[in-house]
Amino acid sequence: MAERTSEQGLERLASQLKERRPGPFDAKMEERRAGVCGASALERLLEGNLREGRFELPLLPAVAAQVMALTNNNDVDARKLAEVIQRDQAMGAHLLRIANSPLYRGRCAMPSLQQAISRLGLRQVRQVGISIACQTRIFRVRGYEEEVASLFRHSFATALFASELARSARANSEEAFLAGLLHDVGKPILLQAIVDLTRISALQVERRVVLEVVDALHARWGEALAHNWNLPSYLGESIAFHHDPERAPSSGGLAMLTNYADFLAHATVELPFQEAPALGHRALAHLRLPADEVRTLLSRRAAIVSTAAAA
Ligand SMILES: [Fe+2]
Ligand SMILES: [Fe+2]
Repeated sequence: MAERTSEQGLERLASQLKERRPGPFDAKMEERRAGVCGASALERLLEGNLREGRFELPLLPAVAAQVMALTNNNDVDARKLAEVIQRDQAMGAHLLRIANSPLYRGRCAMPSLQQAISRLGLRQVRQVGISIACQTRIFRVRGYEEEVASLFRHSFATALFASELARSARANSEEAFLAGLLHDVGKPILLQAIVDLTRISALQVERRVVLEVVDALHARWGEALAHNWNLPSYLGESIAFHHDPERAPSSGGLAMLTNYADFLAHATVELPFQEAPALGHRALAHLRLPADEVRTLLSRRAAIVSTAAAA
């Protein structure tokens, strides 16, 4: 009988290892080790926590949900929307700052929030409102402030590029904006999960390993978050496949567009800017993007980058 039990135990252990599943045995071993935790051990722990529901994914920020609901109604007037936004002080100040950034401002500055809202229009208020809500609620990780702030600027720039590209490709620019904004949302979520894990356990993880693991898992975690927030499945797919758009189960149009916007957001902050790789990207043929429209968009890259920096 004892022999049979130990056989069963071994079988269970073998199947856990085969599935790379961190059962209680692995978790204890990791804790006992209490030394430097390597990338693959950390990946196993995190994946196990996500799969078994031991890690709680954050909720969709309430202000984002409210702005989404309000701006869905085309009859909503600017004053009403300004009231809702003003209730969140950080959101009001942010919105005004972005409204006055080069991409949106036009010729003259917008002094009041209500004026900014009527000038921007509902679609843009919705986009900016959702971005700010995500920035203040999701893109905040203690100990990784700089990384996460620069990640948000990158995500916002990707969203702006994506919505402009969608316009050129005659695709839905709102969907593209959200796909761009959320493409790397798995990164702050993972960083927070790792910070929490190291706080409650004896694990020590080198910063280099943390960033490596975040890079490796962020697309899958972002997809899990999109699912948790009940976002449309095309958004989950574009998040999951933004580094590998050819493998997206549907046509992969949005994933390809996000991949290109992600590429442009990176390329425009690197100096000197190289136009040739941007115009030679595979997305141009895939999405039938007219090269002259992409060239016009590239000429506005400085305005996009400084709008993302104003956030
Ligand atoms: Fe990414
Ligand atoms: Fe990215």
